[in-house]
Amino acid sequence: MKKDFWSDLEKPILALAPMAGYTESPFRRLVKEIEPSVILVSELISTEAICHNNEKTMRMIEFHPDEKNYYGVQLFGSRTESFIEAAKVVEDLGADFIDLNFGCPSPKIINSGNGSALLKDPDSSARMIEALVKSTKLPVTVKMRLGFYDDKDLVNSAKNFESAGISALAIHGRTTLQKFKGHSNWEKIYEVKENLKIPVIGNGDIDSAEKAREFLQNLDGIMIGRAALKNPWIFKQCREIFAGKPVSPMPEIREQLAFFRRHAELASEFKGEKWAMIELRKHFAHIARGFHNAAKFREKLIRIESLSGLDEVFEEMLGEK
Ligand SMILES: Cc1cc2nc3c(=O)[nH]c(=O)nc-3n(C[C@H](O)[C@H](O)[C@H](O)COP(=O)(O)O)c2cc1C
Repeated sequence: MKKDFWSDLEKPILALAPMAGYTESPFRRLVKEIEPSVILVSELISTEAICHNNEKTMRMIEFHPDEKNYYGVQLFGSRTESFIEAAKVVEDLGADFIDLNFGCPSPKIINSGNGSALLKDPDSSARMIEALVKSTKLPVTVKMRLGFYDDKDLVNSAKNFESAGISALAIHGRTTLQKFKGHSNWEKIYEVKENLKIPVIGNGDIDSAEKAREFLQNLDGIMIGRAALKNPWIFKQCREIFAGKPVSPMPEIREQLAFFRRHAELASEFKGEKWAMIELRKHFAHIARGFHNAAKFREKLIRIESLSGLDEVFEEMLGEK
């Protein structure tokens, strides 16, 4: 029996968007600690690498038990057999669902027929989905863009994917050619929802709880990416606004730094202190916005090699407050 939780989730569904290099297990855990109802998903993972038992890849799909209910692994690839084999590995790992990447616009991915290249031939992609859905006990979801070149096949593609058996659909309101330019077109996402029964989740450019409420319309949920890197409290703020409560402000700088300290700690446990400090550099850009000496401290933060070094800079930051 397929264990499908998608239709029973608390509405609106809130999901952290997959972001390669950012939404690794330590960050996901912290986001879920702040707002336990958030749905989590790994960054995009190659089906071929899973099939070859690639060590680095196997590490990338790992998750902490705290991420369960619900954590999915996002797969990219193009061969049906590889999706099926990789899904078995994900199932054995104990993840809650499988998400299919039909949205990545990166040339490296699409030139080999993966990611959003699968939107060029939605019929054949739907056949692949159907075979995968039949082969796995896990619910399968798709995260797609509006289309590859334009959005004219969107509604039909979405209907095909639904008929193929997916449990939910997340749509980033841009085409592949658009990459990240322009605005996410939410009207097209609403149109898809009018034609589908499964939960449809909208994605693109939400940067506040107010915007989440404004954009939700007829959808079942929203997915937030970049804004969650700057404000991991955004999902809690969304829950508040959807419950008709006042939105709590971003926490004080001390709590923001405590969040980051914990992120660094979890990342060190996950992959070692040195690795963590290097990997976290890209997150430093988001720390302490609005802090009066932010640029000076970010400069110091990107040179840090240990947790104790991090503590020193944080103490200095709090001292200057
Ligand atoms: C750095 C970065 C990495 C991303 N990696 C992935 C990925 O691995 N899989 C995926 O489906 N989308 C990926 N995306 C797209 C996001 O999931 C999301 O669709 C997009 O950022 C729009 O949402 P936002 O405006 O809330 O950020 C990535 C986006 C960014 C900025």
